[in-house]
Amino acid sequence: MNVDVVLGLQWGDEGKGKIVDYLARQYPVIARFQGGPNAGHSLHFEDTSFVLHSVPSGIFRKGTVNIIGNGVVIDPVTFEEECRSLEALGIPVRDRLMISKRAHLILPTHRIIDAASEHSKGVSRIGSTLKGISPAYMDKTGRNGIRVGDILVPGFQERYKALKSKHIEFLKQFDYAYDPGQGEANWLKAVDYMGQFTLIDAEYYVNDCLNENKRILAEGAQGTLLDIDFGFYPYVTSSSTTCAGACIGLGFPPSRVGKVYGIFKAYCTRVGSGPFPTELFNREGEILREQGKEFGATTGRSRRTGWLDLVALKYAVILNGVTDLIMMKADVLDVFETVKIATSYMIDGAGTDRVPYDTNAVITPVLREFKGWKRDLSGVRREEELPFEFMTYVRFIEDAVGIPIKIISLGPDREQTIIRD
Ligand code: IMP
Repeated sequence: MNVDVVLGLQWGDEGKGKIVDYLARQYPVIARFQGGPNAGHSLHFEDTSFVLHSVPSGIFRKGTVNIIGNGVVIDPVTFEEECRSLEALGIPVRDRLMISKRAHLILPTHRIIDAASEHSKGVSRIGSTLKGISPAYMDKTGRNGIRVGDILVPGFQERYKALKSKHIEFLKQFDYAYDPGQGEANWLKAVDYMGQFTLIDAEYYVNDCLNENKRILAEGAQGTLLDIDFGFYPYVTSSSTTCAGACIGLGFPPSRVGKVYGIFKAYCTRVGSGPFPTELFNREGEILREQGKEFGATTGRSRRTGWLDLVALKYAVILNGVTDLIMMKADVLDVFETVKIATSYMIDGAGTDRVPYDTNAVITPVLREFKGWKRDLSGVRREEELPFEFMTYVRFIEDAVGIPIKIISLGPDREQTIIRD
């Protein structure tokens, strides 16, 4: 058995939560492999909405095992809040969730460093969610981090204090006022809470499942264009958001990668700073934001919006080895007379269909225009009912990328999903 991977092909917020929840019925094991509480995976069903930050999106499904992998960084405070909210909804989180001992912890001082560092960057700030993600990964790769498994080891408090002292030293370089005890009591309480969960050697668990022919779905967070290596650096997050990150963040070999579900929105959005070649600054951009309710699930920030970028999409497909495309929020385009797709870029007077090394260069997208379908698609449940103009848009993307769009999502609910064979 292989691990199927589901991940975002743009700048995050593609709608992964809905799809993982949808796919989860086919998988007994769902595992998050990177990122942390910077993620916000929104799920909507019946009359309920829920935003997951650290917990895998399979948690609502009876009979699933959900794993937070070693590649994730966890803030115990956010984690506790999230789990308690799930418990209040009657979800038996402790029975359905296991955590890798190798996942790293986000300390209160990581969040302070994040804020101080962003503050010091002024106009060139990354637009971080300020959840302490980058400082926590810095400590991981700098070999200073504290891992979930350390909670169980005597001397945890001393290790915590030692790392906190290092952070306080580090913070001296910034002109930034903060309270060194901020959030500490809550954090320590939340660490105790987390210690009540099943903490495992997830790499063994995952490989045992594969050998027992159990299907696993690996759930990515953020998106390919925010990847630490292949994203539009430095305007990226600090983890490997691509398919390879699933192997590293869960501990299974590349030879065990099965299907790769690549999720993209029918248009583009981005939160935070950084290049966005197809960004719209006009009324069309506002309509995308309003129709798509494009406000961050984690920070509430309003998202930047733009047309679908095929250059970036093809790049993401190559990097991940996508086998199945999943198009989200296509209904958001229902109101437009014409919809557009960037097919190439013009940079310094030359055309290219590749993402350049220097994404901060002035990139002018070359747009192709399509007739809009001007019909409310949110109630459509069968492919045959989709308008000709819409299918022209879909087929153009499939032909250009060379990968089939297997699922089309036309709204937030589980039912608003068209599966194509
Ligand atoms: P950080 O990961 O919080 O440090 O943020 C780095 C960049 O990634 C910023 O531009 C964030 O807005 C963006 N980012 C981080 N997590 C997400 C996400 O889940 N969705 C969309 N953008 C994100």
